Amino acid sequence: MSKVRFYNGDDIPLEFHRARIVQKVRLLPVDERLQALEKAGYNTYRLDSRDVFLDMLTDSGTNAMSDLQLASMMRADDAYAGSESFRRLEDAVHDVLGKKYVVPAHQGRAAENVIMRALLRQGDIVPMNYHFGSTVNHITLNGGKVVELVSPEAFESASDNPFKGNVDTVRLEECINRYGAEKIPFIRMEASTNLIGGQPFSLSNYYQVRRIADKYGIRILLDATLLGENAYLVKQREAGYGDMELKEILRIFCDLADLVYFSARKLTCARGALICTDDFQDKLKLDQVVSVFEGYVTYGGMSMKEIEAIAQGLYEATDEDYISQSPSFIKYFVEHAVEMGIPMVTPPGVLGAHIDAKLFCDHLPVQAYPANSVVAGLYICSGVRGMEGGTASEYSPSDPGHIADMELVRLAFPRRVFTLSQTMFTLDRLKWLYDNRRLLGPMAYDDIPGMVRGFRTPLKPLTDWPSRLVAKFREDFGDSL
Ligand code: F0G
Repeated sequence: MSKVRFYNGDDIPLEFHRARIVQKVRLLPVDERLQALEKAGYNTYRLDSRDVFLDMLTDSGTNAMSDLQLASMMRADDAYAGSESFRRLEDAVHDVLGKKYVVPAHQGRAAENVIMRALLRQGDIVPMNYHFGSTVNHITLNGGKVVELVSPEAFESASDNPFKGNVDTVRLEECINRYGAEKIPFIRMEASTNLIGGQPFSLSNYYQVRRIADKYGIRILLDATLLGENAYLVKQREAGYGDMELKEILRIFCDLADLVYFSARKLTCARGALICTDDFQDKLKLDQVVSVFEGYVTYGGMSMKEIEAIAQGLYEATDEDYISQSPSFIKYFVEHAVEMGIPMVTPPGVLGAHIDAKLFCDHLPVQAYPANSVVAGLYICSGVRGMEGGTASEYSPSDPGHIADMELVRLAFPRRVFTLSQTMFTLDRLKWLYDNRRLLGPMAYDDIPGMVRGFRTPLKPLTDWPSRLVAKFREDFGDSL
């Protein structure tokens, strides 16, 4: 809920910033959009950014930075060792996250590589609420196995459960008893669980997880990449936290974890990643791996400018006006889309608005890649670039028949990047696409040996549905872009 009430009763997400540097974007005519998509092999990752009107692929590295972050970059101390910038980073980690030691890496997945190499052993089990792609990769590459513990309701797109990212604590204890605590280096909690639609977990659930972790002497590893938003939704949705300041809630999340790591491309709006802990022995192990794979322990593959921007960004992550911007826009988008009858992931999550592609295209089987069809259709009718999140991006040649838990289309809302009229334009075109959804047809992958599917491989439509969609667009919109 916005802090400002409108006289006419509308619930409009009002921005608490001004835009002083902007970047021009262009919207191609519809037939050129089709050509661009054909050239990209119908995979939105392969589109040239110059052909994209609103880039809703991801919020990773695409959030707006602040004036103070840009200013902070100018005072970077590039010393290889003993840099003042690293000192300031340590202070910010201490002030905001409350942790003593900080280990930098060049991005989130690099931090995961470092953590798993340093702290996981062959045959270990990592229970978690839900996986992120890069996390599973690094756990399995290091000989571990993931056990996921969200409740089945997490996969129901339409829901009124405010905390679909919660761990089922009964299953958590069963898992520990089954494999043995000595096999579990940590329980991983992912803030605002990305792949199930940016859904948070509650603090009451987290306290229970902590109690179980203490009972068995297991660490908690917090993926804080989307922690600001998770803390904001706790303030909004969980009884007892409404009057607490965002920075206090953030602090509780970090105090309950033994290790906190995050992709700084999201939290702090810069580049890179950090791993934070109070445990000196863990810090030593992490340092050893960082020095081999990332760089010296005070920069870990980042430039000192990025380190400065992260330090400043950490302080800004405690500002509710800033952290609430993206979730409020997503809420606006999702609530309006639901009113229009479009199947969305609810309650509205963070990072982006998520469409349930299985329901959107209930005339297509999962094997025809409905999420890729919706993403392609949306680009054709709007120039908006979304992302497929489901079976295609989880494809692995070792398990070719694997079907993902959800088939989602993600429309990311990087912080402070899009305006409300751009949001309304996207809603308008999505509604048109929904009304014309029967025109969306099946897709297939045009595999290139050795090429990763979801992120790189071209697709082909199995019928001429894209040109029929363009014809219908022209019929309905005339000469409008
Ligand atoms: N953890 C979470 C929850 C993430 O969302 C990401 C990245 C990572 C770890 C890995 O961080 O990209 O810096 O290596 N998510 C991006 C996305 C890629 O588009 O959602 P990274």
